[in-house]
Amino acid sequence: MTGGDSRETRREFLKVTGRLAAASALAGVVTPRVHAAEQNTIQLALIGCGSRGAGAATDALSVGNGPIKLVAMADIFQNRLEGSCNRLSNAAQRKEFPGAVDVPKDRQFVGFDAYKKAMDCLKPGDVAILTTPPAFRWPHYKYAIEKGLHVFMEKPVTVDGPTTRRMLALAEEAKKKNLKAGVGLVVRHCRARQALHQRIRDGEIGDIVALRSYRMHGPVAGYTGPNGGQLSELMYQVQKFHAFLWASGGTFSDFYIHFIDECCWMKDGWPIKAQANGGRHFRGEQIDQNFDNYSVEYTFADGVKLFLFGRSIEGCYREVASYVHGTKGLGIISTSGHTPGRCRTYKGHNIAKNKMLWRFPQPEANPYELEWADLIEAIRQDKPYNEVERGAKASLVTSMGRMAAHTGRVITFDEMLNCEHEFAPDVDKLTMNSPAPLLAGPDGKYPVPQPGVVTDREY
Ligand SMILES: NC(=O)c1ccc[n+]([C@@H]2O[C@H](COP(=O)([O-])OP(=O)(O)OC[C@H]3O[C@@H](n4cnc5c(N)ncnc54)[C@H](O)[C@@H]3O)[C@@H](O)[C@H]2O)c1
Repeated sequence: MTGGDSRETRREFLKVTGRLAAASALAGVVTPRVHAAEQNTIQLALIGCGSRGAGAATDALSVGNGPIKLVAMADIFQNRLEGSCNRLSNAAQRKEFPGAVDVPKDRQFVGFDAYKKAMDCLKPGDVAILTTPPAFRWPHYKYAIEKGLHVFMEKPVTVDGPTTRRMLALAEEAKKKNLKAGVGLVVRHCRARQALHQRIRDGEIGDIVALRSYRMHGPVAGYTGPNGGQLSELMYQVQKFHAFLWASGGTFSDFYIHFIDECCWMKDGWPIKAQANGGRHFRGEQIDQNFDNYSVEYTFADGVKLFLFGRSIEGCYREVASYVHGTKGLGIISTSGHTPGRCRTYKGHNIAKNKMLWRFPQPEANPYELEWADLIEAIRQDKPYNEVERGAKASLVTSMGRMAAHTGRVITFDEMLNCEHEFAPDVDKLTMNSPAPLLAGPDGKYPVPQPGVVTDREY
């Protein structure tokens, strides 16, 4: 998948560009174009140069089916941009991807409008990597579509109802322009999970009767102390995005979306409603808006349930895994995190060696690399490829469980989709001097969800 005969690639490329040129003349749509330097070079701009951004760029540059080059980078923090740029340049010098990082100072941009400047360095058919906190996903995607760019965007892709509706509309627009999009729900690209999905469809564990998923460990990411005053309130909230629902959907959306999505995939559907519990127990000086624990019961249209358990408390039982139960047996979707999946099926519902029906052979390919191989393959071969609708629905279903916990009400898919509470309505207009979308009270604390008390919105 990641290999590639360059002659073959070039022949395919010419075939594809010829076909696309004809199609675009007819339809007037934006299509992948021939690049000046090396005809089939795909150029990248990285928007959001944090840990995942650098990881995604590395994976993109490692795809081996034709030339790819990182040419521009954008962030709102100079030091984040420089740190990632240095790391990627050093990796290129170490010959991990020789010559593939070409980001001089005049293609490094800082600020809330930096994403536009970085994308302006690209040509239609190139790729923008969107790895900021999710609040900025829709304005960044909107501009990428305007510029005729393909994208890779990290999950979650939305944090509330209004941004989901916007994202779904953008996905339609992108598809009309033949623009490809990968969404970082990385498990979908795992070959072990794909094999398990096929086995479930083929009836190996019978009809699905329940699914359950766990992400339970100590406090990470979302636990945040007060702003020390070195940063403006806005920059502090963006930097600590897991702490603030407007920026990330909180730890709920950030942590649990993968697990919710992988279960919905195995079930081949989205739940129609959710009810949930959660609470704040051990807060100390932490001022974030998250609960320490969440339990959600999702219900699918046929009545089947998905039970999700999330906990960020030290000293408790830990598990990061997902299971699917059928009338004949059990499937393991995730054994311990996202990779390797180590997927297995069992006769009955106990995980017992002598009851094992199948297991995916080890070692597994890295799905973070596969998601890029799949996207670049789709771009080069001009295959239909847009994961944004699926990513937006996964984000919405995640928000549905979160809102159920935060309000104490049953929340339906339709209610979540039509919910009018937009957490950060003017996120596309933010500048370095803007006030933050969320204000602390006189006690320095931010509003937190109050189930049963505040029930029409999450805070
Ligand atoms: N698929 C996965 O397994 C996985 C793993 C980690 C993170 N993620 C996702 O990746 C995204 C980023 O997470 P991260 O861990 O890299 O966070 P991070 O804080 O390390 O990086 C985010 C970067 O974006 C920058 N940024 C913020 N707002 C910006 C804006 N408006 N314009 C330009 N740059 C901006 C920040 O300064 C920072 O450098 C999140 O959506 C997260 O959920 C996915």
